[in-house]
Amino acid sequence: MTSAELTYAAYLKLDELLQLQEPRTAQDDTDPTKVLSEQFFIVSHQTCELWLKQILGDLAAVEGHFRTMTTADLERSVDLLYRAGELLRLLHEQLMALERLPLEDFAHFRQYLGSASGAQSTQSHRLEWVLGNAKRAGSLFLAFRTGLERTGADLEEIVGAGVGAGSLHRVIEGMLRVGNGYFQWKLGHVGLVTKMIGEQRGTAGTSGAGYLMDRATMPFTELHELRGKMHERRQEQIG
Ligand code: HEM
Repeated sequence: MTSAELTYAAYLKLDELLQLQEPRTAQDDTDPTKVLSEQFFIVSHQTCELWLKQILGDLAAVEGHFRTMTTADLERSVDLLYRAGELLRLLHEQLMALERLPLEDFAHFRQYLGSASGAQSTQSHRLEWVLGNAKRAGSLFLAFRTGLERTGADLEEIVGAGVGAGSLHRVIEGMLRVGNGYFQWKLGHVGLVTKMIGEQRGTAGTSGAGYLMDRATMPFTELHELRGKMHERRQEQIG
């Protein structure tokens, strides 16, 4: 098919895409609103996985730019980091929308999930690997630190310089936006889960909301510590 013949549906593969939602409720209940509730649940998860694909791609590109550390590549990284931050905000808002899932319909179709659970989301595990958590630095931060070391720059000095550090400062701001967006997404998920299943166990067999709360940690610990240190130094200078 040439570009002139291409249609919107063909370009986006809409026929295939719109066939990918198969609510299991339809097997035993033809009430359209119940079927729609399960479709809502499926679409929420599918769109989440699509945005995760985009976020992972964007962050992988940022890691690539950290290998060169040219000003142009750093500025591209800033744009990509802010985009990833916006997409995490979208993911959080999608969870807020899912709070409108009628409880009685969810309680009905939950039986069909078996042991299927977000805990099996390979992309969400990859995102945690890239961003890290409170105890372990992620591959994104490690790539940034390695890039700085190669160019002889000192992270503590960059944090201390603030806006004076230019592109490097903006990259750090972008990473922190992504880190906070990720944390808000995780907290939003705990809120949704608590609303939907209370203290019940998850389909993967975890304790549910309690387990998720323990896992909702904030990445980029090293950057937070350096920013805390900067405050300490400023206060010493003032006092
Ligand atoms: C009614 C809506 C939802 C409920 C009740 C729910 C429930 C849960 C529970 C209980 C867990 C813990 C693992 C388990 O034992 O199953 C979990 C994990 C997870 N869920 Fe959800 N979830 C919902 C919606 C979503 C959505 C829309 C997404 C987006 C893809 C999502 C992504 C995840 C991820 C990535 C994990 C793993 C989290 C981690 O390991 O820290 N969940 N979910």
